[in-house]
Amino acid sequence: MIEVSGVSVRLSGKTIVSQVGFTAPAGQLTAIAGPNGSGKTTTMKAVSGELPYAGSVLLNGQEVNALQPWQLATMRGVLPQANTISFPFTVREVVRMGLTTGVNRNPGKAEQTAAKALAAVDLGGFEGRFYQELSGGEQQRVQLARVLCQIAEPIVDGKPCWLLLDEPVSSLDISHQLTIMTLARKFCEAGGGVIAVMHDLNLTALFADQIILMKSGQVAASGSVRDVLTDRTMESVFGCALRINQIPADGTPFVLAHSAVQSGYNPA
Ligand SMILES: Nc1ncnc2c1ncn2[C@@H]1O[C@H](COP(=O)(O)OP(=O)(O)OP(=O)(O)O)[C@@H](O)[C@H]1O
Ligand SMILES: [Mg+2]
Repeated sequence: MIEVSGVSVRLSGKTIVSQVGFTAPAGQLTAIAGPNGSGKTTTMKAVSGELPYAGSVLLNGQEVNALQPWQLATMRGVLPQANTISFPFTVREVVRMGLTTGVNRNPGKAEQTAAKALAAVDLGGFEGRFYQELSGGEQQRVQLARVLCQIAEPIVDGKPCWLLLDEPVSSLDISHQLTIMTLARKFCEAGGGVIAVMHDLNLTALFADQIILMKSGQVAASGSVRDVLTDRTMESVFGCALRINQIPADGTPFVLAHSAVQSGYNPA
C-alpha cells in the first residue's frame, strides 16, 4: 500500500502541493488527474522519493524519504513525464539501464529480460535502434520497457512492487494506449500496484479503480470512477462544461465536451 498523508512540497520558495492525502492499495490502479499545473507531477515526485516533502508517504509501510535510493529502486519503478536522453544510446542500452537499478533476479539473462520487456510494449526487434531516432510514442514505450526491466515482478518477497507512471500513454496511438493500460492492469491483478497520472478521462474510466482529482495543488475529489466523474466535479475542477454519460451495457462513465462546445466554449 502507498499511504500519502498531509503531503506538501515547496519549490523555488512556493508551495506547489499542499496537504495532499490518498491511499493507493496494491492490486489497484490509482489514477491522478487534473488540469495542467495542478501538481500531479510534483505529487508523483514526492511519492517516488525524487522530491523532499513535508508530511508522510508510506511505501509498503516505510517512509519514502528515509529509504536509500537503492532500496527505492527495488520497490518502485518511475516513468517520468519527460523522456529526453542527450546521448546516442541504443534501445537495448536504455532498457538495460532498468536492470542495473532494480532487483535483477536473473543476472545471466539480461538480454532475455530486456527482450521480454520490449515485447511487452510491442517493440520486439528494436534493440539495436538508436533512441533518438525513434518516434515520440516509441521512445515513451522504450522508457516503459526500462521500468519493466527494473520492476519485473509485481510481488517480491511477499511485498507488492509499484509502477509510478507519469502520463504513460500521452504520446501513444489508441491501440498502444490499450496495450499499455492493459499491461498496467495485469500488473495490478498479479498483486502489484500502479499510480498513473492520466489526462484521458475516458481511458481512466475504463482502467482505473480510483481517481485522485487535483486542482491548484490540492486534492479536489477522490474515490471510485463513478463517484469522481460527475458533471459538477468536472466543471468545478476543469472550468468547462463537460457531460458525463454512461455506457448502457455496464454503466461505465464517459466524458464528452459536447456541452462545452455547444455553448460556445470560451476559456477565461
Ligand atoms: N521547480 C519548480 N519551481 C517552481 N515552480 C515549479 C517547479 N516545478 C513545477 N512548478 C510549478 O508547480 C505547478 C505544478 O507543476 P506540476 O508539474 O506538478 O503540474 P502537473 O499537474 O503535472 O501539470 P501537467 O498536466 O502540465 O503535467 C506548476 O504551476 C509549475 O509551474
Ligand atoms: Mg505533469
